Amino acid sequence: MRVLGIETSCDETGVAMYDSEQGLMGHLLYSQVALHAEYGGVVPELASRDHVRKVLPLVRDLLGQCGEERFDGVAYTRGPGLVGALLVGSGIGRSLAWARAVPAIGVHHMEGHLLAPLLEPEGPPFPFVALLVSGGHTQLVEVRGVGYYRLLGDSLDDAAGEAFDKTAKLLGLPYPGGPELARLALQGDPARFRFPRPMTDRPGLDFSFSGLKTFALNTLQRGLSEPAVDKAQLQADIACAFEEAVVDTLVIKCRRAVVETGIPTLVLAGGVSANRNLRHRMGAMMAKQGGRAFYPRPEFCTDNGAMIAYAGWQRLRAGQLEPLTFGALPRWSLETLSPVTPGPVPG
Ligand code: KG4
Ligand code: ZN
Repeated sequence: MRVLGIETSCDETGVAMYDSEQGLMGHLLYSQVALHAEYGGVVPELASRDHVRKVLPLVRDLLGQCGEERFDGVAYTRGPGLVGALLVGSGIGRSLAWARAVPAIGVHHMEGHLLAPLLEPEGPPFPFVALLVSGGHTQLVEVRGVGYYRLLGDSLDDAAGEAFDKTAKLLGLPYPGGPELARLALQGDPARFRFPRPMTDRPGLDFSFSGLKTFALNTLQRGLSEPAVDKAQLQADIACAFEEAVVDTLVIKCRRAVVETGIPTLVLAGGVSANRNLRHRMGAMMAKQGGRAFYPRPEFCTDNGAMIAYAGWQRLRAGQLEPLTFGALPRWSLETLSPVTPGPVPG
């Protein structure tokens, strides 16, 4: 079975082809970063318009690359995300499937992220604990099979990526701030400031990152008011302390989740999992626990079509079908997804 995947939930237009025998045959990505940069964040209407412009040309290029026009199913991102952007991919995906008389399926964007490490030659075995860290989500999920998801922890306010982006903005870094802040942190002195590790001093697996942004702002203002301040060094030291605090907090919560579930396999997914410090620290923590951490390759950490083609392939090959309608779900809980056979792996 060969599945065309279409991702348009936010500011990246991604398309890909996944084949049962050949694996990932090709994938293309068009990033709208330059379009939104001057506004300092994603402008939903502009995102939708750009998806309208880009989806079909990308699909045409992808089919050219694959050397064959054939596909046996279409997977499109149904949610969560920006409703206008989602409707573009949903409408085009459903229409292409109808025109070719093949089935289509709406995929949960975060399921795409959490299954992305399975695109790698040595993917994680089920069951695993997944840390989903993106611009919109910070979640810990127990995964016993495709569609067998139990939410262990969630963000009470800002997602980790959102906190990275907002802190980067107040440090005067260009959009999108997460990767820029990570780059600046490399030049910082980790001993100069110590930021709090939110919600690690009490039991539970929920997260709260909005206070770190305020802590960064106060540290910046205090630093700038000192005489003969080296502003560039101050910014780098704050970036370093902020990143350390986020990474440390995520590592502490993941260790807790692995111990509590007894599952020695951890998957990192979503845009923030591209962070090298986080990957390194999480790998070391899991080795110490006698387990192992898995990550997608960096290009499949952030939004892409490959993860949607793969998640859709998993569901279509299991015979899951949807009626001849399409929709967009701006909010959508992972726990409501239907399970896919073979069933869950016992813990
Ligand atoms: O998964 P993603 O591409 O889109 C969403 O579904 O949100 O994640 C984007 C988020 C942004 O907040 C971005 O700043 C963050 O991932 N990000 C990073 C890094 N690369 C991307 N955050 C920290 N360090 C990075 N290297
Ligand atoms: Zn995403």
